[in-house]
Amino acid sequence: MLKMSLTILLAILFIISVPYILIIIPFTKTRSKNGGKHPPGPLPLPIIGNLHMLTTLPHRGLQKLAQKYGPIMCLRLGQVLTVVVSSPEAAELFLKRHDAVFASRPRIQASDYVSYGSKGMAFCEYGPYWRNVKKLSTSQLTSPSKIEFFAGLRRDEVVSLVDELKRVAAAHEVVDISGKVGELIETITYKMILGRNNDDKYDLKGIIEESLSLMGAFNLADYVPWLGPLDLQGLTRRLKTVSKGIDHLMENILVEHEQKGEHDSTQDFVDVLLSLKNQHDTNPQSDDSYQVLTIERDNIKAILLDMLVGAFDTASATISWAFSELLRNARVMKNVQAELESVVGTEKMVEEKDLGKLQYLDMVIKETFRLHPVGPLLAPRESREDIIIEGHYIPKKTRILVNVWAIGRDPNVWSKNVEEFYPERFIGKDIDVRGHDFKFLPFGAGRRACPGMQLGLVTVRYVLAQLLHCFIWELPSGMEDKDIDMTESFGLVVGRANSNLLVKPTYRLLD
Ligand code: HEM
Repeated sequence: MLKMSLTILLAILFIISVPYILIIIPFTKTRSKNGGKHPPGPLPLPIIGNLHMLTTLPHRGLQKLAQKYGPIMCLRLGQVLTVVVSSPEAAELFLKRHDAVFASRPRIQASDYVSYGSKGMAFCEYGPYWRNVKKLSTSQLTSPSKIEFFAGLRRDEVVSLVDELKRVAAAHEVVDISGKVGELIETITYKMILGRNNDDKYDLKGIIEESLSLMGAFNLADYVPWLGPLDLQGLTRRLKTVSKGIDHLMENILVEHEQKGEHDSTQDFVDVLLSLKNQHDTNPQSDDSYQVLTIERDNIKAILLDMLVGAFDTASATISWAFSELLRNARVMKNVQAELESVVGTEKMVEEKDLGKLQYLDMVIKETFRLHPVGPLLAPRESREDIIIEGHYIPKKTRILVNVWAIGRDPNVWSKNVEEFYPERFIGKDIDVRGHDFKFLPFGAGRRACPGMQLGLVTVRYVLAQLLHCFIWELPSGMEDKDIDMTESFGLVVGRANSNLLVKPTYRLLD
């Protein structure tokens, strides 16, 4: 099937539907059957609804629409009623006051293929299975003791990158720091979650990036299901290919773990999941607390993949955004390096125990999250029952998008200089990243907030601190800060479209 861009496709559907527009639109109701009124929003077209208004970077398009229709806005994306939330007050209503109602995720075609029919954590519906997967993943991977347990791994890998960069510096060469950080996070993530190194046998990075792009795509099959079998965007074909790659890779990882010799007593996350499966196999009637997982091979693969997807691109995209902003803002770069010199000194490297004292660095990271949240619309939620919020009727199975990108750039919420990278705006403000302050939600909020927040934060803080402490960073000669490409690429994680970031390091510690 010929692959078409979403825009061309919607244009064709629009032309086909012109006769309907003239006949049906005058009778389109904004009221539901029981008389409740949906939130305000633009008039939907037949078949496609408002899909044509999404633009290639939907968080930007939706921000403009919300400026016209308000912070609780209703769109019809194909056949799916969608509410877009774009203010801190509205976000608090959906993610705190009525969190239980909006704690589910919609079933989408991508998670059927990529996440084994939503058997992982990120896209599974709210209920006992999700609760148990969350409990298990948190205790085995992202709890404070596990984060501490992996500190040595993070240190070894970061130090090895610093050594490599020292050689680049000594040779006066230029390096793609985005690529290097990507490789670093990839290695840390592999070792932490899969208990193995990336030995280049499989392109896990490629698989994860493709999965994220497909999971974030506005797939017509999800919004106009009868068009699904035609696969007009070519997404189903890509999903089938990526799901085969994922399964091949995951199967190999499970087999490797199952064949581990008895002398190898180390237990990683994969071993824990496998032990639960074995427990279920040998005692299927057991009512152990994880029993409700009824964990099978596919569940294990889906859970592992969700953790990899959650951990991998989020941290590397955040570090890459932070680096780009620091290179464009010499004043901030100077301040953050001055703080590192005064807190850590120039005779030793940063250690994780220093991170708590680096308050300016913390504000730099917050400012990066404000301007470049890697999940600008969070992950979509779905309502579990009919509800009325602020007089608006929101029926069961409505999709909810929270535009944290728009909230972060709202001058009424922040201040007039919202577009400026200005970490000092956080001075003296008790704004934390944990989802308690609804104007700042880089990890979401409520039940479905990111379970890997603490781990992600430690990784981002430590990697950035070390690189900024060890080196002076300059753009290659002939390049100016305005040449840094800040274009975004859209997917479940929004990173820089041009993933290269060329810089020239100079080692600055006294060895
Ligand atoms: C800088 C790092 C990270 C950022 C910015 C980030 C951001 C996010 C965001 C915005 C969400 C959606 C929250 C919502 O819908 O309310 C999310 C969900 C999730 N994240 Fe993270 N994340 C990061 C690191 C991690 C790590 C290290 C892991 C795992 C090891 C992880 C695993 C997940 C999972 C499994 C979900 C889905 C939770 C659910 O649906 O219940 N994330 N993350």
